[in-house]
Amino acid sequence: MTHRVAVIPGDGAGPEVVAEARRCVDALGLDLTWSELPWGTGHYHEHGAMMPADALEVVRGHDAVLLGAVGDPSVPDHVTLWGLLLPLRQELDLYANLRPARLLDGIPSKFGDVDMLFVRENTEGEYAGVGGRAHRGLEHEVALETAVFTRVGVRRVVEYAFQLAGQRRGLLTSATKSNASRYGYVLWDEVVEEVHAAHPDVRVERVLVDALAARMVSSPGSLDVVVASNLFGDVLTDIAAVLQGGMGTAASASLAPGVATTPIFEPVHGSAPDIAGRGIANPIGAIWSAALMLDSLGEADAASALLQSLETVCRTGLLTRDLGGTATTSDVGEAVAAGV
Ligand code: NAI
Ligand code: MG
Repeated sequence: MTHRVAVIPGDGAGPEVVAEARRCVDALGLDLTWSELPWGTGHYHEHGAMMPADALEVVRGHDAVLLGAVGDPSVPDHVTLWGLLLPLRQELDLYANLRPARLLDGIPSKFGDVDMLFVRENTEGEYAGVGGRAHRGLEHEVALETAVFTRVGVRRVVEYAFQLAGQRRGLLTSATKSNASRYGYVLWDEVVEEVHAAHPDVRVERVLVDALAARMVSSPGSLDVVVASNLFGDVLTDIAAVLQGGMGTAASASLAPGVATTPIFEPVHGSAPDIAGRGIANPIGAIWSAALMLDSLGEADAASALLQSLETVCRTGLLTRDLGGTATTSDVGEAVAAGV
């Protein structure tokens, strides 16, 4: 069966790294078609919206989405993010954002042994989009941003994290803040305990998110699977990206295990406007995301061939300048594609 993949290269460095991910997937010779969707800031300037009105239907007609990044200095970030990425994640019900943080051989890092897997809640929490502003422009203007935690929403992502922990080293760390946030995170903690009852094989620990941020840096080897809310997962995984070499190296998958919907695969980084257009963006995060995509499409052998080639290239020291090398974006993509 042909895999139908929609590509949203997006803005800034997005198209540069996505082109390399595509080149690597093409080298695998799978039965796979790409449809490129020119959505993003260019679309916004031309049509007044980041994506067309029927975007969801278009995406639902595909088996997966490979996305670069969206965001451009010409448009406020909340407009670009809420015009494309967040509505797609929410309306496709992609409740689990999976972010492996592993230090590949050959990538310089001060942190040694790093092999964690983050499971970030992806449809509610602090990014539910609930809130508003009143008294606009007046001295007493007010802005409310309401975090939404539902029992079902927490349970499904925690359940998935327990399953993954059971397949790995059997430790699940739950990021919480139930000392200061008395409602949402107390419910979060309760649900973690409930789900734990069905997974006695997995050890679970509850760690306040500030202490967890410190521990990620001081003792990264002590962490296996981490489950976190939307905001906490967002922040912690940028730290994790640095532990594994830098922003350009981190990959992610937005999935809905058990739900028939279209998953999205994208590097963790943004559109990197400071380096875009110079051919120096690191394509590792995008290529790794493509490997996660192949895995989810049922192409496990192709996914592991791609990851192996990526690791081999890193080991040979062919690195972009964010990792201390001199290679270009396409040098890395070409080498990984040649090695699959
Ligand atoms: P960013 O991730 O784009 O950049 C942060 C730093 O990491 C910059 O110094 C950049 O040069 C570096 N970096 C990022 N990707 C890299 C790569 N592939 N290779 C080498 N270095 C890389 O985050 P920032 O600056 O906060 O946001 C820039 C824009 O991206 C904003 O408009 C923001 O809203 C958007 N954004 C979009 C995301 C998405 O579409 N998923 C995620 C994060 C930010
Ligand atoms: Mg982020």
